[in-house]
Amino acid sequence: MSPKAKIRDISYTDNKYLDMDLLRFTTAGSVDDGKSTLIGRLLYDSKSIFEDQMEAIEKTSRGSGEEEVNLALLTDGLKAEREQKITIDVAYRYFATPKRKFIIADTPGHTQYTRNMVTGASTADLAIILIDATKGVLTQSRRHAFISSLLQIPHMVVAVNKMDLVDYDQNVFDSIVSDFRRFSKKLDIDNITYIPISALKGDNIVNKSDNMEWYNGSTLLHFLENVRVDARENIIDFRFPVQHVIRPNQNFRGYSGRISSGRIRPGEEVMVLPSGITSQVKELVTWNGNLDEAYPGDSVTITIEDEIDISRGDMIVRKNNIPNVNSQFEAYICWMNEKRMETGRQYLLMHTTKTVQVFFDEIIYRMNVDSISREDASKLELNEIGRVKLRTSQPLFFDPYQINQKTGSFIIIDPATNVTVGAGMIRAGSTETEDGSLRAEDGRDKVNVASSVSPDVLWEPWNIAREAREERNGHKAVVVWLTGISGAGKSSIAKALEKKLWEEGKQTMLLDGDQIRHGLCGDLGFSASDRTENIRRVGEVAKLFFEHGNIVLCTFVSPIEKDRKAVRSLFPEGRFIEVYVSCNPETAQKRDPKGLYEKAKKGEIKGLTGFDAKYEVSADSDLSINTDEVSVKESVELILKSIL
Ligand code: ADX
Repeated sequence: MSPKAKIRDISYTDNKYLDMDLLRFTTAGSVDDGKSTLIGRLLYDSKSIFEDQMEAIEKTSRGSGEEEVNLALLTDGLKAEREQKITIDVAYRYFATPKRKFIIADTPGHTQYTRNMVTGASTADLAIILIDATKGVLTQSRRHAFISSLLQIPHMVVAVNKMDLVDYDQNVFDSIVSDFRRFSKKLDIDNITYIPISALKGDNIVNKSDNMEWYNGSTLLHFLENVRVDARENIIDFRFPVQHVIRPNQNFRGYSGRISSGRIRPGEEVMVLPSGITSQVKELVTWNGNLDEAYPGDSVTITIEDEIDISRGDMIVRKNNIPNVNSQFEAYICWMNEKRMETGRQYLLMHTTKTVQVFFDEIIYRMNVDSISREDASKLELNEIGRVKLRTSQPLFFDPYQINQKTGSFIIIDPATNVTVGAGMIRAGSTETEDGSLRAEDGRDKVNVASSVSPDVLWEPWNIAREAREERNGHKAVVVWLTGISGAGKSSIAKALEKKLWEEGKQTMLLDGDQIRHGLCGDLGFSASDRTENIRRVGEVAKLFFEHGNIVLCTFVSPIEKDRKAVRSLFPEGRFIEVYVSCNPETAQKRDPKGLYEKAKKGEIKGLTGFDAKYEVSADSDLSINTDEVSVKESVELILKSIL
């Protein structure tokens, strides 16, 4: 070991290295399988560390009475890691050999840190899956391999570590390889290379091992230096999520952000989503002057020819190449929180520059990572992976992860704690192989959206943006959802409210249960599933009127809380006002505006909400009005106050 090693620790932007070929890779393993040591060994043997760093490490190692230099200390991105001896966060490390420069996304092994695996690995060209020779292929290794395949990392190295502890026995290595092969056949990864190593002793890391004559393959570093990496960048589909609107003065208006994929030049025609308005790119402005063409990863400020209302979270695309626009889609989710994922609960979803509310409508299946088989599940626990149906409060502009990693991935945040609890990859249609494993289709097919959308129906952007309609109307669009049992007073309040709004010159739309059930929902009865469908349709109709700038008043019994939440999720925060209208059951029966309670008492109808069927009260309605105590007029005032 020569501490006088030539220094090659690099600055990523160092000119000398700028044009060098680059390999991004990620390491994943379990606690104690020697991942930090492996990285340390790579840096040390490839002479990529500073002399003073080396001395410090040797000193620390001696101080703690360790025999060998503790190479894991090299990867000391975080103090806690050294103290607890586990890697606790993702850290990027840069090093170079004369052949290539490398970026390592060092992701932790401990099961609860899958999140970092997902976020750290997403741009990797190669994943190293570390397996402890004394333990064999663990569930954790399988999980990492599965996630790597979900993330479409093109190359995988299975590094069988701690060979020194099994006497460099070829049989041990062979049986691990065949074990892993049996499993990986079911994954969507073709390029897997197996290398027996000892990170601690340095076997087959940088230098070929003398202890394993039976191994004829390359060393790890040699492989990393020579593996062919093709650009994974999508340069076809132009996607520019707007991060900020820049308006320093009246004469300049630009939209800044980073190009997720595709290329763009001044003069080219673009479309802005969600408004669907088209214009032309005027300039591509950067700190270093204007560009003739901008590429994926470039941070630019785009100016366009026409004055269009664009805001953060909008997306600029090419007119003839637009992404999927939908608020319902399917994705793989890796759940990363101790608190399990629940359907019907509201979470936040961060996708490009947009954060929206989201519900998981359904877990289609959970993946058993040991057998790569599908299991029924109603929830996802920590580290579990499932295919789910999601529904967001606003449409997202997305592509399948397979063709666009940036617009095809997202993270899930718990709104109560602000913690990232899941990561997701939006899937294109995948075909099942005979054994039920997953092999993605290569095609650029559209995403499988929720079953209610036929595959050939594409989203048509709004003709005139809601914001423009709101400006002309002089008021915001909003949905007021009055819910409660029959006779509680929903319709009376809604009618009075609409009259008032009408007199004030506001644009309104009143959707009433009895009317809707005569036409649009004439085929539905009052079973739970029919009521759910009724409310779903009404929600969609309300959405159309909302997007057209109306104050939409809806009066529906809507007794199922989940259904109301699902409707709420269709609208932006603050634009769906749930008003729970209640009264004493006796009052409702006395009012009995439609004679239904009378009929129910005589046994002529069954399942009347408030009589012999349940109404689920929301914990989070925006307004609660008890019409035994509050008059119609007062109710109208209360609602007006909360919407205007
Ligand atoms: S919901 O439950 O699906 O939300 P909705 O509001 O559309 O119901 O329709 C309720 C109206 O249908 C009531 O105003 C009432 O006139 C009529 N109705 C007939 N049978 C029932 C029933 N079993 N439960 C509730 N409403 C009923």
